[in-house]
Amino acid sequence: MSAQHDRYSIRPGRASDAADLAQLHASVQLQAVTGGQPHPGIAAWVEDLLDGHPSVVPADFLVAEESTTGRPVASLVGLRQDWSLAGVRLPVAQIELVGTAPEHRGNRLTERLFATLHQRYAAGRVPLQVIEGIPYFYRRLGYDYALANDGGATVPAAALPATEQDRPDDVGGLTVRPATIADAEALADIDHCLADGATLTCLRDAAQWRYEIVGRRPANLSRRVVAVLEHGTDVRGYLVHGARLSAAGELMVFAAACKRPADWPQAAAMHAHLGHIGRQYEALAGQPFSAVRPILGPDHPLVRLAPPGVPRRPRGWYVRTSDPADLIARLQPLLRARWHTADLRWPEPALIISLYGRAARLEFTNGELTAATVMRDTVSPSTDPRTHAAIPPGALLQLALGHRTLPEVLHAWPDCLLRDRATEHFLTAAFPRVPVQVWPRN
Ligand SMILES: CC(C)(COP(=O)(O)OP(=O)(O)OC[C@H]1O[C@@H](n2cnc3c(N)ncnc32)[C@H](O)[C@@H]1OP(=O)(O)O)[C@@H](O)C(=O)NCCC(=O)NCCS
Repeated sequence: MSAQHDRYSIRPGRASDAADLAQLHASVQLQAVTGGQPHPGIAAWVEDLLDGHPSVVPADFLVAEESTTGRPVASLVGLRQDWSLAGVRLPVAQIELVGTAPEHRGNRLTERLFATLHQRYAAGRVPLQVIEGIPYFYRRLGYDYALANDGGATVPAAALPATEQDRPDDVGGLTVRPATIADAEALADIDHCLADGATLTCLRDAAQWRYEIVGRRPANLSRRVVAVLEHGTDVRGYLVHGARLSAAGELMVFAAACKRPADWPQAAAMHAHLGHIGRQYEALAGQPFSAVRPILGPDHPLVRLAPPGVPRRPRGWYVRTSDPADLIARLQPLLRARWHTADLRWPEPALIISLYGRAARLEFTNGELTAATVMRDTVSPSTDPRTHAAIPPGALLQLALGHRTLPEVLHAWPDCLLRDRATEHFLTAAFPRVPVQVWPRN
């Protein structure tokens, strides 16, 4: 063990770390916003994560402890959750609260924390890690930009309907009201329905919805407000927005869903509600309400049906997988369904996809996918006649998550190689673009 490693040890978090970790993160995160002061919203978030969170346990934190003092000097947390990719459940860990005390920087503690975290997820078979954060920094730790969940146009406050009462009465009888814990089961049921659709979503069960509605400390930076869309007493959808205006006077929208797609044209009720909430916040905080800012993609129904706004460039999410061949194998039911829908049958007993290190072997019976296994790659996949496709791991992430299509990947990655046109045709149908409707759990 090097002298540097002697100085620090990496260990799982404990409930008793709450005060130290709250103080550490409050004093290192978002310092540009606070002007160097501790951030109370971050402290409350850390305390909530370490105190009765429905899906986080203290050991989900990793801590770098200074050996001489026993004090945490750097840490991060991996928030485990289930996402659904067009019906296939994918365990995901979202990494948050990466921070090192200023006097301990320069010791590669973040690198060490991530190395331990990645070993943990490899052992626990969590195929995907995601993080939003410092541009370029996480590329150095094996992450690629392979997901975007925003980019929807910002709608100026003046463009929103003036009051909810201004809505015409013929919008199908849908109204929006604040959620209560009695709505939790209905909200979980909506997530369940969405998970079977064609999008990438993050699922919440009833306990997690209750937590979103009443579980967090008021100051928690990640506290959101949940509203439900209802028809009579039938909960038909939800809307999740910020608990306060941003520094720019924007009201953020984090999620919106309708159980029945046919209800979306009446989503005007949601825009009127957002206008009403924004003006309420303006009156409470004495800060002008400037706009509604959706943290939703441009193709999200709420965005498409919004009054005209100002387009924004989507921010990227970093994604990592330790085993891209395993990721392909997990998508087996989805691949089978997509090929079936496209009426495609593979003419050989197997389709071998090299990920430059490991390979996925897809087996077919009568042209239909019947099994997917992970195997050792050949030494030279680009020239081996048994290999049908060689795809760099970063490119595979883009394809698997539906972020980029095969033609886009072929354009950008010269080392993405396909044996023939049949393989190209098959893989194009396997990996269409997937709309993202992810509001991660934190
Ligand atoms: C980001 C942070 C955790 C890194 O601390 P650390 O683990 O001690 O990292 P080190 O100081 O050992 O730096 C490791 C490398 O990353 C680089 N790096 C460090 N902080 C960086 C930053 N904010 N942006 C870009 N590069 C950074 C260093 O220059 C160094 O590069 P090198 O290998 O070329 O020498 C720390 O600066 C921090 O706590 N910042 C404030 C909180 C924050 O921004 N967290 C991330 C939220 S996504």
